[in-house]
Parts: sequence; structure tokens; C-alpha cells
Amino acid sequence: MKPSILVLGSVWSNDVREQITQAFDCHFMAAIPQAGEPAFDAVAGSIRGVLTTGTVGVTPALVASLPALDIVTVHGVGVDAVPLALLAEKGIHVTNTPDVLTDDVADFAVTLLLSTVRRVPLLDRYVRAGEWVARAPMAHMQARALKGKVVGIVGFGRIGQAVAGRLQGFGLQIRYYQRSPGPAPEQRSDSLLALAQESDMLVLCMPGGAATQGMIDRTIIEALGPQGTLINIARGTVVDEAALVAALQDGRLGAAGLDVFEHEPQVPAALLALDNVVLTPHVGSFTFEARRAMGQLAVDNLRAHFAGKPLPTPVG
Ligand code: 8YV
Repeated sequence: MKPSILVLGSVWSNDVREQITQAFDCHFMAAIPQAGEPAFDAVAGSIRGVLTTGTVGVTPALVASLPALDIVTVHGVGVDAVPLALLAEKGIHVTNTPDVLTDDVADFAVTLLLSTVRRVPLLDRYVRAGEWVARAPMAHMQARALKGKVVGIVGFGRIGQAVAGRLQGFGLQIRYYQRSPGPAPEQRSDSLLALAQESDMLVLCMPGGAATQGMIDRTIIEALGPQGTLINIARGTVVDEAALVAALQDGRLGAAGLDVFEHEPQVPAALLALDNVVLTPHVGSFTFEARRAMGQLAVDNLRAHFAGKPLPTPVG
């Protein structure tokens, strides 16, 4: 008999669907089901694995309603939406999909940085609206140069280092901050506040979760300042979103490029109204190649688990 798995979220490619439906008895649900939903209650007792995304994750309540659960496979590198301590306590395995997305996420961080400082969406709108033909003024768009500036990277793990490697070619000075010592100690600032004060641009690459919740607060945002640019490809939770919106509105922060938000897919209306922001729908790893590799790695982890083999990419 095929093992039963619950497949959450809506990112699954045909390729992944084909592989998992062949190997497992799959129950697809877009969002986390609640106990009491008849379709879920009918299968809950038999579910041995959950395949989920980095943002949907699993909740303690879901874990409690799956008595036969023994693996949670995350399609993504971030495991902040998964209660790791609870799962470890119950002896439930967790896997994620590191490495295969690093380059594409780093490329996207650079794309968002360039789009934000050079005001690409605004310029695109200018052309589409016929303003170029009308010779409308452009000076207010205030595109900025990168050369000679300082970029601060918050979180200097695999993705942060890949972003730094790419930015070296732009004539920027690169600095970083993370709590633990990292490579290139001479580039590490003494604190997050010092990094924000020293930098013209901050690129957020740290993991989400309780340890980083609200880390980019009003003080850090104001230290980055009126000419500063904030880029977030990490998690919406790492930023105090209300403080960010207020600073962007009244000019205490220059600009922001945001791929992630506190309550996705909801984006505050105040942000939608601003010209000094570039907004994208959590797409750092959204390339055909990265998503295919992530899907394959997730499937390989599930297959290995149910075949009693070592997990390719266990968490913890
Ligand atoms: C994905 C992510 O958008 O890897 C992560 O942590 O946030 C993203 O790559 C998400 O996990 C899609 O499943």
C-alpha cells in the first residue's frame, strides 16, 4: 500500500504531482486544513507525511491531528513556518531544500536592488503611460548610482554570501552583520545598528522565525536613513512593517524593494500607493530551474524516508 501524504500549498509543478501521485496516496489541500473538515477528518488518521511550502508550513494543531505523521518535507529553505521543537519532541523528521535555490534567490536580490535604486517599475510606467512622448519630467524619480556606496547584508549564510559575491562586481563596498561570527571578519559590523549606520543599502537575507522577528525596527530603519534603500528577500516577519511604511511615507527611509510581507499575500494599501517601493509576490526562488530542483529534492526526501534510506537534506 502506498504511504498517505498531505500536500499543502499551490506551488506544485506537473512534474512533482506526477512523481508524488505515483509514489504516494496524495491528499492535496491548498491551505492548512482544520480538524472537523469532513474531507480532512476522513484521511487524517492515515497521513504519514506532509509535503508543504516554506510559507504554508504546518501548525501545531495540524501536527496534533495527524497521529501517524512521521515526516514533514518543506519545499523551500526556510523552516520558520514549521514548529521544529515540537516535531523533534515527537520524533517527526523534517527536511527542506537548501542549496538548489541559492543562486536564483541571490540573483533576485540583486535584481530587486537594481530595480529599486534605478526605479525600473516607475520608468516602465512612464513609457507605458505615454509620458516619454509627452516629455514629462523625470527628475523626481531620483535614480541612484551603486558605485562607491556601501551595501550591508543582514544574514551572511549561503544566500547572503551569494548576494555579496554578485555585488562585488558593482564597485560597492560590502559589509554584513549576523549574530554568529562569519567568513571575512573584517567585513562584519559590530552590530545591526552599526551596519545600518554604515550602509547606503541593506539587503535582508536572514532566516525568519522568533529569533529575527521585528529585527528591522524603527531605529534600524532610521539609521539607514532618507537616502537609504532596504531590500527584503528574507521573510516579512523580520521587518516592523508599520514602521517601514511610515518611514517610507514621510521620507525617513529613501526606498524599499520588498519580495516578502508580514501577512502574505496581503500587502498594506499604504505600500501600494508609494512610488519609492518595488513590490514582488515572494518570488526569490521562482525560476523554472530552481523550482524544478526544489520539487525534485522534496520528492527525493520523501522517497528516501519511506524506503528507510538516509534523508538527503534533513533539518537539524
Ligand atoms: C518559496 C522560500 O517561495 O525557500 C524559501 O524559504 O520562501 C521560497 O523559496 C517557498 O518555500 C515555496 O514553496
